[in-house]
Amino acid sequence: MQIFGVDIGGSGIKGAPVDLERGDLAQERHKVLTPRPATPDAVADGVAEVIGHFGWSGPIGITFPGVVTGSTIRTAANVDKSWVDVDAARLLGERVGGLPVTVLNDADAAGVAEMTFGAGRGRKGTVVLLTFGTGIGSALFHDGVLVPNTELGHLELHGHEAEKRASTKAKEDEELSWQHWAHRVQKYLAHVEMLFSPELFIVGGGVSRKAEKFLPLIEGVRAELVPAQLQNNAGIVGAAMAAGARA
Ligand code: BGC
Repeated sequence: MQIFGVDIGGSGIKGAPVDLERGDLAQERHKVLTPRPATPDAVADGVAEVIGHFGWSGPIGITFPGVVTGSTIRTAANVDKSWVDVDAARLLGERVGGLPVTVLNDADAAGVAEMTFGAGRGRKGTVVLLTFGTGIGSALFHDGVLVPNTELGHLELHGHEAEKRASTKAKEDEELSWQHWAHRVQKYLAHVEMLFSPELFIVGGGVSRKAEKFLPLIEGVRAELVPAQLQNNAGIVGAAMAAGARA
């Protein structure tokens, strides 16, 4: 079965039909830049453009980079604040001609995809997936079951919000070396480990493509530490899985 997945990120809105048996994109993905400011209407136009590119008519799963309860957006750290309290499934569904839309947090979507098709496949116990990008997203699993909206990127670390120090945006903005950034990521992982004692950390987000540049620099974390396998497609695949579970 194919379901459409869309990943709304801080820099791009990307989507493709997903083959749910293989857990992979069924066609090459299409991407548009995230509008600035990333208001609900402007983002909805971007989402409609991505879906329209494929002439898709069927269920759609969409990730959002903030807390999502039911289909209502509760936080918007890296997109326009006017998203808060918006019923995203309704707004986006109306924009795409009434197709059924499921919305979930972006890191939760990536986590669900990795636990089924990627680095977390078959893993029991506590697993934490962290996505490093514009912010830091988190997905917490115990015996394969997701606890949604954990928002561990906003933990406080040495008096700062962790994602302001250890996201890849912080690395770029402050022009940090891999070594320096890895040191910050290590401190952050140690903090999350202290709270949840996971067996496994999965490191996702675009930077997971460059895992060899920084994962070997991270020491002193007891949990196994591995890069995500679906890399930047995990959100699209997880979004489609979430919509597929409802279809
Ligand atoms: C948001 C999370 C999101 C993460 C990655 C954070 O700023 O609060 O909901 O998962 O960024 O996009």
